[in-house]
Amino acid sequence: MSQGSTREKLLEVKALRVDFKVKGGYFTAVKGVSFDVYKGETFGLVGESGSGKTTIGRAIVRINDASAGEILFKGRKINGKISKELDREVVQKIQMIFQDPMASLNERAKVDYIVSEGLYSIGRARDEAGRLEAVQKALLDVGLLPEFASRFPHEFSGGQRQRIGIARSLIMRPELVVADEPISALDVSIRAQVLNLLSELQRERGLTYLFIAHDLSVVRFITDRIAVIHLGEIVELALTEELFAHPLHPYTKALLSAIPVPDPIAERRKCIQVYDPACHDYATEGPSWREVSSGHFVLANSAEEKGYRAELGL
Ligand SMILES: Nc1ncnc2c1ncn2[C@@H]1O[C@H](COP(=O)(O)OP(=O)(O)O)[C@@H](O)[C@H]1O
Ligand SMILES: [Mg+2]
Repeated sequence: MSQGSTREKLLEVKALRVDFKVKGGYFTAVKGVSFDVYKGETFGLVGESGSGKTTIGRAIVRINDASAGEILFKGRKINGKISKELDREVVQKIQMIFQDPMASLNERAKVDYIVSEGLYSIGRARDEAGRLEAVQKALLDVGLLPEFASRFPHEFSGGQRQRIGIARSLIMRPELVVADEPISALDVSIRAQVLNLLSELQRERGLTYLFIAHDLSVVRFITDRIAVIHLGEIVELALTEELFAHPLHPYTKALLSAIPVPDPIAERRKCIQVYDPACHDYATEGPSWREVSSGHFVLANSAEEKGYRAELGL
C-alpha cells in the first residue's frame, strides 16, 4: 500500500454512534467511532467480543441505523435517507462476509440461489443464462466446483460454506468488503486457506477490506492499519507494524500480551496483562482522540499523551 498523501478515502466513518432500544431505555453499542479506509488497503478492526465491531460493519452496509454521525462512501453520505440510486450502488459495491458460515446461509435454498440472491436486488439477474454463468464463475473463483450450484448448504463443510459466502459477495463485483471475523468459526486447519483466498481476490480485483477480528494475531500479517476497539470506542489506530512495535494504550498492550508465542517455554512464562479501565485518571480531564505521532492515534488526555510521546522518544 502506498503511503502518499493522495490516497483516496473509500470509506469515512465520522463520529458514528449506534444505540439499540433495550428494556428500560437505550444501550449505546458504538460511542462516536471515527476512522477512514483507503482504497486498496486492508484495515483491521480488532476488539473483544461485544465491543461493537459487527454493529459498525452492519451500519456500513445499512443494516443498522446510525444514531449519530456519518458514513461516507467515495465522499457521499450513505447513512440515513439516501436516494434509490445510491442505495442500489451501496448494495452492490459494499459487501459483507459473515462470521458464522453455518448460520449465515439459507438452509432451504440451493447454492445457486444463495450466490446470486444479491443480483436480483440490483436487477442483474434478469437474463437466466447470464445469471447461471455468473454463479458458476463465482464458485470457480473461490475454489469450488461449478456443479455445486445445484446443492444445498448442509452438504458442505464450514470452509466450503465460507467460500460460498465469499462467492455471493464477489458476484456483486464489490469495491469494499466488510469481512466480519470470516475465519474465527472455522477449523484452525483451514483458516489459512480462506485467508489466502481473500488475499488473492484482493490482489486480483483491487478490493478494499475492512477486516474484523477479535484477536490481533489474525490480522497481523494481512492488514495495513489496525484500529483497536474497546466497549464501543476506538482506543488506538496505527499502521500495523507501528502498533505491534509501539503499542501505547493499555488495552492494546493487554491484547498484545494475550497473543500466543511459538516458543513453549516463553509461552508458559508469559504474563498476560489485564486491562483495567480504572488505570486512567480522567477525573480532571477526559480523553480525546489524539495523533501522538504521524498516523498513530490514541484515545488519551493530555497527561497520557505526554507519557505516550515520551514512550516513543518524542
Ligand atoms: N440488535 C441489538 N439489540 C440490542 N443490543 C445489541 C444488538 N446488537 C448488538 N447488541 C449489543 O451491542 C454490543 C456490541 O455487539 P456487536 O457489535 O455484535 O459486538 P462484536 O461484533 O464486537 O462482538 C453487545 O453488547 C451486543 O449485545
Ligand atoms: Mg461480531
